[in-house]
Amino acid sequence: MGLLGSNLARLLLPTGAIITVIDNFSPKYGANKFNLHDIQNEITTVIADIGDAGIINKLVCEVDYIFNFAGQSSHIYSMVNPLSDLDGNLRAQLTLLEACRKFNPKVKIFFSSTRQVYGIPEQLPVDENHKLAPIDINGHHKLLAEEYHNLYYKHYGIRSVIFRLTNTYGPGMRVKDGLQNFLGLWIRQTLENEAIQVFGDGKQIRDFNHVEDVLDAILTSASMATAYGQTYNLGNDTFYTLTEIAELMITITGTGRIEYIPFPKHRKAIDIGNYYANTRKIKQKIQWEPHLKFPEGLEKVLSFYKKNQNQYFS
Ligand SMILES: NC(=O)c1ccc[n+]([C@@H]2O[C@H](COP(=O)([O-])OP(=O)(O)OC[C@H]3O[C@@H](n4cnc5c(N)ncnc54)[C@H](O)[C@@H]3O)[C@@H](O)[C@H]2O)c1
Repeated sequence: MGLLGSNLARLLLPTGAIITVIDNFSPKYGANKFNLHDIQNEITTVIADIGDAGIINKLVCEVDYIFNFAGQSSHIYSMVNPLSDLDGNLRAQLTLLEACRKFNPKVKIFFSSTRQVYGIPEQLPVDENHKLAPIDINGHHKLLAEEYHNLYYKHYGIRSVIFRLTNTYGPGMRVKDGLQNFLGLWIRQTLENEAIQVFGDGKQIRDFNHVEDVLDAILTSASMATAYGQTYNLGNDTFYTLTEIAELMITITGTGRIEYIPFPKHRKAIDIGNYYANTRKIKQKIQWEPHLKFPEGLEKVLSFYKKNQNQYFS
């Protein structure tokens, strides 16, 4: 019921797929019941943790594909609650993989990891061979979770593909605060005609993918035997400074204003600086290209939240 999972369910439904969504619905994560309100009668929803072996052992038996998007994705949260991040991003992942090994080793898994596994980029753009040196708890746990998937592929033949996502945005993302993603918070601040708080001088660069493009990559890989066992960056050659992003939002909505504030110390300590991804590997191997340009995607998403703010802003 988070960003990726809900958009995927909606995308797959017309194909005739039988869909089960499992989500623990933690208030600190991105789940929102409104994300699936229009299709809730056509899918099965299980409110549970993927780390609950009693439940996951049964669920994995019945499926051909697992889109493993369940995760705690806040870097800040992981630093304040490292053991909770460990439970959600490692123990739960291992429980899921064990369930697959014991009860459905033929299943195919698609795991959404993060660009945070690289840490501070040594050069840009960052490709998959970049040093892996995460600088926060979440990045370390995601990296280990990647390794679990690789290990289960090598030792037990459980096919998986790993995607290292950059900032991914779209309808259904958490926007009520900045816990997960600065863009979500800025969407709310802009639409509420508040100040968009930009940390530092606003010159930091970031790349983005709309959720539609991310899901396109993941679904394309699902039909390619050569993708299994591989790790792919998902990102974008086009990047923007923080100031450009804020200005774009203000231009689209006609509301909001920029306020530059000093980087809070606890955020600076786990900030990776400038980032954008080299996506040559996935472009060559599975012929993926992101289609939605950021300004166009941003316009769509701002319009979604303008219409549905009652469901997402508090
Ligand atoms: N969106 C991004 O920019 C981005 C970037 C890098 C990586 N990722 C990763 O992709 C995945 C999906 O991201 P998203 O943006 O859809 O996040 P999201 O928070 O919107 O959705 C994740 C969902 O997983 C659920 N969840 C978390 N741990 C769970 C568990 N142990 N058992 C059951 N449900 C659980 C949450 O309640 C939430 O609904 C996450 O693992 C995230 O770390 C996302």
